[in-house]
Amino acid sequence: MLCDNITRAADGALLFAGQDVNALADRWGTPLYLMDEDRIRLNCRMYRGAFRASFGEDALPLYAGKAASFRQMYRIMAEEGLGVDAVSPGEISTALSAGYPAENIYFHGDGKTEADVAFALDRGVGCFIVDNGDELISLQEHAAARGLHQKVLLRITPGIDPHTYHAISTGAVDVKFGVPVETGQAMEFVRAALGMKNIEVAGLHCHVGSMVFDEDVFLRTVDLMVGFMADVRGELGFVFRELNLGGGYGVRYTDDDPMADIPARIAEVAARLKTRLAEADLPLPRFLMEPGRSIVADAGMTVYTVCSIKRIPGYKSYVITDGGMTDNPRYCLYGAAYTVLHAAPRGRLRAIFDLAGRCCESGDIIQPAISLPAATARGDRIAVCTTGAYNYSMASNYNRFCRPPVVMLRGGESYLAVRRERIEDVLALDL
Ligand code: LLP
Repeated sequence: MLCDNITRAADGALLFAGQDVNALADRWGTPLYLMDEDRIRLNCRMYRGAFRASFGEDALPLYAGKAASFRQMYRIMAEEGLGVDAVSPGEISTALSAGYPAENIYFHGDGKTEADVAFALDRGVGCFIVDNGDELISLQEHAAARGLHQKVLLRITPGIDPHTYHAISTGAVDVKFGVPVETGQAMEFVRAALGMKNIEVAGLHCHVGSMVFDEDVFLRTVDLMVGFMADVRGELGFVFRELNLGGGYGVRYTDDDPMADIPARIAEVAARLKTRLAEADLPLPRFLMEPGRSIVADAGMTVYTVCSIKRIPGYKSYVITDGGMTDNPRYCLYGAAYTVLHAAPRGRLRAIFDLAGRCCESGDIIQPAISLPAATARGDRIAVCTTGAYNYSMASNYNRFCRPPVVMLRGGESYLAVRRERIEDVLALDL
């Protein structure tokens, strides 16, 4: 199977985290997001253990909340001792309202408004990851007005193409994030930040992309970052004490995807970093990364009920579900691949279908050309695997469909973390 939390009972019934998917769908309704809490915790512990082994006690993985942001996630992160990367007042509020400590939040974003800056300062967010010079000036003004000395990391763009989907690659020179090293602008950015009285420059940040499998990408990033750290010490006499390499490790959506050995990759990054730092005669900074997908993706599964089967002889066949691009826009946006399973398969004969949603749009396809039992019929349950990252968090109300609930699976039990949206919730905004 794709991941060891997906199994089948003797009669073929699909199990997720050991629980019967049909029974879960009966109890909680569909479309339904399931999240295997035990898996999330395992993934957190894998990161913490790997960081500790390679970098010592003070190294910290930050959970990138953009992958899946709701209160229960932040409670889990607090319990597992992870920091948090947040990109909006909404993510910050979600974390704080779950009791997550503000000082462990790293505040991201390339377009922070004056209100955003004030909001985060007033809530005592531990660190700003400053994306650009305009933000730096705004932060200095707001921090000065409050008599604060705000810790920051400066986001720079190392100029690395991670060979992943264009829309999610962020490290190349001409992307909209951070300040590029190659053009000399990053050095000026650091110089400006060091000259600001109410800003405490702790370190550097970079993020080269998401769904990265190419082992070399992080190693080349380390080379570039250490090169820049050495240049800064040479030119400005300043030594950074934190280094954040962003997120990006890939996960398995289908059996064709490789199995990423993240602890081994982190050990390689550590070895390379230590070598390059020693060559440059620089001390080891506190090491941070911001994994999102690799913490939650394989903890997720989405379950649908089949609404109709449409066969167009000589062309193709569709399985039309009660969900779609509103709960999973990733195929529409990125052509993303998924593994699709029937929750209670019957008959030996299989057929090829496009798994579609019920939005008024022909592009509303969850996954094309999947193999399912030929006898698949209205009322059957279909599961899409590995939907824990960027599915709930990217869901929409297109066509005024309501967003599915998030049900957590823990130790053989299930409980609600986010209730199903009702049409009253959506209508509450209309005057
Ligand atoms: N740090 C920064 C600054 C980021 O921009 C991201 C992801 C992460 C960390 C977490 O990266 P991860 O470990 O999850 O790869 N919606 C797209 C993914 C967008 C990624 C955005 N940034 C998708 O569904 O594939």
